[in-house]
Amino acid sequence: MERTAECGKLTKNDVGRKVSLMGWVHRRRDLGGLIFIDMRDRSGLVQLIFHPDQKAYALARELNREDVIYAHGTVLARTPENINPKLPTGEIEVRVESLEILNRSKTPPFAIDVVDPAQEAQELVRLEYRYLDLRRPELQKNFALRHRVFLDIRNFLSERGFYEIETPMLTKSTPEGARDYLVPSRTFPGKFFALPQSPQLFKQLLMVAGFEKYFQIARCFRDEDLRADRQPEFTQLDLEMSFVFDERPILELIEELVCFLFERHLGVRVARPFPRLSYAEALERYGSDKPDLRFGLEIIDLSQALSGIEFRIFAETLGSGGVVKGLVLPGGAKYSRSQLNELEKHAQALGAKGLLWMKLTDGGPDSPIAKFLTPELLARVQKTSGAQLGDLLLMIAGERKLTNTVLGALRLELARREKLIAANQWKFCWVLDFPLFQWDDEEQRLVSEHHPFTSPKASDLALLEREPLKVRANAYDLVLNGVEIGGGSVRIHQMELQQKIFDLLGLSRDEAQAKFGFFLRALEYGAPPHGGIALGLDRIVMLMAGAESIRDVIAFPKTNTAYCPLTGAPVEASEKQLRELSIAVKV
Ligand code: AMO
Repeated sequence: MERTAECGKLTKNDVGRKVSLMGWVHRRRDLGGLIFIDMRDRSGLVQLIFHPDQKAYALARELNREDVIYAHGTVLARTPENINPKLPTGEIEVRVESLEILNRSKTPPFAIDVVDPAQEAQELVRLEYRYLDLRRPELQKNFALRHRVFLDIRNFLSERGFYEIETPMLTKSTPEGARDYLVPSRTFPGKFFALPQSPQLFKQLLMVAGFEKYFQIARCFRDEDLRADRQPEFTQLDLEMSFVFDERPILELIEELVCFLFERHLGVRVARPFPRLSYAEALERYGSDKPDLRFGLEIIDLSQALSGIEFRIFAETLGSGGVVKGLVLPGGAKYSRSQLNELEKHAQALGAKGLLWMKLTDGGPDSPIAKFLTPELLARVQKTSGAQLGDLLLMIAGERKLTNTVLGALRLELARREKLIAANQWKFCWVLDFPLFQWDDEEQRLVSEHHPFTSPKASDLALLEREPLKVRANAYDLVLNGVEIGGGSVRIHQMELQQKIFDLLGLSRDEAQAKFGFFLRALEYGAPPHGGIALGLDRIVMLMAGAESIRDVIAFPKTNTAYCPLTGAPVEASEKQLRELSIAVKV
């Protein structure tokens, strides 16, 4: 028994050919005395046809969905009225002469041939039977794409002199802002390995080791709150280069790689260089450090235009150093009071005190604050915002950062409601000049915005001690359609500066030694200037595949509670294992 063809690859050119196929019963229909089977293998579907006068007919009557079969027969052209233009093999069918059932299937807990929205809800069941879920042609396609993208990345980087080098999974904590997954050591009772949140420190050590150009398709582990674009274990394209002094070489390399992948796999030509925005500008104009540039609705600062207004909330906000900012929704004057109330509730849930609106109508401005809008103020607001007759202006007054983020979220909500995002748009951008630190209110100390190995901008070095929150980093994020798909930085390569950053982060010298002593020491042995980046490959493949969640491009993903419905992991350890690990469990 030998397979001589693949179901999804048969075409009109094969008419007359004898073929042996192996695959699954996708669907069965009994029509007018004939039996039709859609047979599926990973290449796609083909229709099998069984006539009552054939020996195979009796066996075909016993076939159920997902039985595994061997079918041998002749490829026939379909009559014109039977051609199925939706199916790549729709011009032909295979008349089966012999059939064998290689294995039976129980009735699957959900249909594999139809995507039923009601069943989509049963995600737990789909994940429990993930091997069946993965049989769906859409998911099969995602993994074929993932494989080809990974292969192309490897070749692309290898051609440019990068070595793929693996770094340990059982290691010491690498801080990327999440909790670690810990693995207890048997040989060192009471001690733990951490699974890597990223290969960050090892890739820097590889630069110290003289490899110059490294990459790795690396699994990373982060115990953090999960969402559609976050999994507890995920895959990065991690890379690092020596003799890098600023972001340019990294940005160019990544643009070239990404454009190559998009052209090759989606046939999409993306213009280079990608737009570049500073972090400050991204927040001011889009209210987010991962701006979605597929639509306008930019955030406008109305503080100047509204200065002198007598409306109390605005006047007080502006008087106390706050801002009034807004969004113009073209044609939005049609919004009803109840729609506006809904938007206000949305803004309040995000932390704004309120949302003020102004419709520009034939009869003048329609707004709760209309009486405060003198003709002069109105003219200034219109000029600054560009609002036209028929438009809606939404305004929020408050502290700058909060106002930006709320308007940023409202911007996305409006785009969703108004369907402003056309399909098949690929808007990349780089966000640069991140602050080096953030202030952590809870811990009352500085924390790294990116990670503690990111270098400060040389021009801001003087501010490190005096005004650390003003120091900008040599860090960059790559954003596609509002999703952060990568991040990296030029690193610190001098021990003294690295030590100083640890000091500023409130890490005592002893703590720094205990956590990162091995790394600080390496910086003292001729560490070259270096920099790099990591791309979130699951997110990239998700976007390329048009999937909604990275779960659709990860073979065996976990739920939002970091649970694996397929295996039931995590599970208790046995008494014996715990004893060997010197662990007592208190729950
Ligand atoms: P960062 O933490 O920004 O950088 O991670 C790089 C990219 O990885 C993706 N990503 C994730 N994808 C899925 N699930 C997650 N939980 C998850 N977390 C992150 C994102 C992100 O942009 N060591 C640095 C890189 C460097 O400096 O070179 C790092 O890991 O797309």
